[in-house]
Amino acid sequence: MKPFIIANWKMNPATTQEAKSLFDSVKDGLSGIKNVDLVICPPFIYLAAFNSYLSIIKLGAQDCFYEKSGPFTGGISSLMLKDLGCQYVILGHSERRIHFKETDEIINKKIKAVVSAGLNVIFCIGETEAEKKKGETQNVLEVQIKRGLDGISAKEMENIVIAYEPVWAIGTGNPCSPDETRKAVLFIRKLISKIYPARILDNLRILYGGSVNSENVRDYFGKSGVEGFIIGGASLKPEEFIKIIKNIN
Ligand code: PGA
Repeated sequence: MKPFIIANWKMNPATTQEAKSLFDSVKDGLSGIKNVDLVICPPFIYLAAFNSYLSIIKLGAQDCFYEKSGPFTGGISSLMLKDLGCQYVILGHSERRIHFKETDEIINKKIKAVVSAGLNVIFCIGETEAEKKKGETQNVLEVQIKRGLDGISAKEMENIVIAYEPVWAIGTGNPCSPDETRKAVLFIRKLISKIYPARILDNLRILYGGSVNSENVRDYFGKSGVEGFIIGGASLKPEEFIKIIKNIN
């Protein structure tokens, strides 16, 4: 499997022009690099500007409401995303859990809506610093997985990628060590193997996210058991982002 990289631009940049120039710089930097599966997740409003580039880079969204259409002011549906050429949707990100008060139950509804529209989910889970200090990491991951994936069939699970993103490592410059990441990844794999048939585990991709940069990325690959990364801050700096991809290769 090629390394799987998700660029999570979050609420950046401020203008379409800047977004286009960022996208173009990444696209140009990728020339000659074949061994990567890359998804860029810009804010919703920039998606349409990029859907002509889809042969090289896949598009993802950072959220999606669970209803298909109707009176849901401000909502964006999975069908709208699909129409724009999106193939992936990030769900369960801690910033959505914290700032938008998304619960496991809401995330579960969103996961169901996205997979039933035929899109893929990047399902984010991870503990806070306080939970880690109390030794609750595995409990937190277990609850988030069981509630988030409640009612998701094995067939639907084929379209779900799990991202381990400890909240304390996101945007802090304090990444989770490859050893600790490995422990979490093994725990996630064990849990999934109890819920789903073996073939799901064989094909399941688990990513790590949290302060990944061009200097530390190589440490994870191989050592931590992940198949790729979600990259936030560093995905907004094209040179650094391309360096990350080159360093994995
Ligand atoms: P970061 O963000 O790379 O800036 O830590 C990762 C994420 O939130 O997905």
